Amino acid sequence: MKMKNNDHNEINRREFLQKSSTVVAGAVLLNPLDLNAKPKAKMKLAMVGTGVRGAGMWGRDVLKSYSDIVEFVGLCDINQGRVNTVKMGLGLSCPTFTDFEKMMKETKPEWLIITTVDATHHEFIIKGMEMGANIITEKPMTTDEQKCQAILEAEKRTGKKVVVTFNYRYSPHRQKIYELLRNDAIGKITSADFHWYLDVRHGADYFRRWHRLKEKGGTLFVHKATHHFDLLNWWLESEPEEVFGYGALDFYGKNGAVRSTNCRPCPHKGECQFYWDMTKSRELMALYAENEKYDGYLRDGCVFKEDINIYDKMAAQIKYANGVQVSYSLTTYSPYEGYRIAFNGTKGRLEAWIQESQAVDMKDYDEIHLWTSFGGLQTFKIPQSAGHGGGDERLKDKIFRYPNAADPYRQSAGTRDGAMSILVGIAARKSAETGKPVKIADLTELKPLAKRP
Ligand SMILES: NC(=O)c1ccc[n+]([C@@H]2O[C@H](COP(=O)([O-])OP(=O)(O)OC[C@H]3O[C@@H](n4cnc5c(N)ncnc54)[C@H](O)[C@@H]3O)[C@@H](O)[C@H]2O)c1
Repeated sequence: MKMKNNDHNEINRREFLQKSSTVVAGAVLLNPLDLNAKPKAKMKLAMVGTGVRGAGMWGRDVLKSYSDIVEFVGLCDINQGRVNTVKMGLGLSCPTFTDFEKMMKETKPEWLIITTVDATHHEFIIKGMEMGANIITEKPMTTDEQKCQAILEAEKRTGKKVVVTFNYRYSPHRQKIYELLRNDAIGKITSADFHWYLDVRHGADYFRRWHRLKEKGGTLFVHKATHHFDLLNWWLESEPEEVFGYGALDFYGKNGAVRSTNCRPCPHKGECQFYWDMTKSRELMALYAENEKYDGYLRDGCVFKEDINIYDKMAAQIKYANGVQVSYSLTTYSPYEGYRIAFNGTKGRLEAWIQESQAVDMKDYDEIHLWTSFGGLQTFKIPQSAGHGGGDERLKDKIFRYPNAADPYRQSAGTRDGAMSILVGIAARKSAETGKPVKIADLTELKPLAKRP
């Protein structure tokens, strides 16, 4: 079985072309100081949640690039079949488990990688630290404020380290935006417009899977927008103070004219534009279809299922502790995938429009436009990179190979950053439900600071 590169269904052309150069560039950028470091004992890793993200980004890709310094001592998943499939696919000899505590007791990992369903992350973050491991957790750190508070307390109690894997921060394009903003390119930032478009392919996929249920992914305000809110917090170098949100389900779920349980047996295959033939992917068939007998999970669920209880369009107004105001929106049934970001400042405006699918003229660079109020336009062209804009590789280099390397762009993220990003989404979700603004300080013990600490 071959593992895929990232959570998109295919690696697109420009990602493929850029992949190798990114790895080299990332290594050079992150590591001028550690080149003469002596070989150390291998870092003992365990993983809980062996789905596509665990198997690919944290399994196959980690083994490919870091086998000289890391080793897997255990894999765990509630699905016995899937965890065994992944062990075989990765060519590992470590034991597999369905009982998490048993894995922790028997294998004693130094680092635990958490790639389970979002609403369960807190359980493994907390127990993992209590049982002696440092944590690498996928985003979102968790899905509600009570679980967030429990993680913050456990971290203090155990003295262990938590890394939240915000790969989006590591893309060269976003890093350049951070650099320009820090260099005062537009003066004092006063407001930002941020609009994200998921297309009818990638966007629809969230409605096929467990992400369609609020109780599993916290809605896309948390599951997906945690990336976007984290970028905002990082770019603005401040913390969110108050949020007002709207959300509705206008397109998927109950809005469909016909529906089925999932695509494979669907009687409407011929007429449904969202029919998706999972049997064409050997990887997904091996990971999910062949292991349905263990948990009944249907990877190709119908996007018009009536149990879908998340929003498919969302908007939020966010006020930051440094006074910046943000208008944010997320659309999940756009003809193309991409985003627009603009920062308004006292001396100018910085903007970028990234189109990741359906572009008429696919370029191999992304642009940033810097307008100064009385000085005209300057354009920056940043080469594109594979794996979430080059972020995946550079993030892993920082975690595994060069943990002590300098972090000039402040890209490493711990629990405070993990919390601040989900709390925006949690606040937006609460606001959409109650019609009232929500203060971040009312959610957990964290009090927002004007300058990100
Ligand atoms: N940073 C990124 O860009 C990015 C991209 C994709 C996924 N992710 C994150 O990775 C995580 C996994 O996503 P995925 O797409 O691989 O999902 P998935 O459904 O393919 O995998 C999740 C796995 O967790 C297992 N699981 C669920 N509950 C469990 C429990 N209580 N104990 C043990 N195992 C359990 C499931 O059986 C499944 O194998 C999610 O949190 C997601 O947000 C991040």
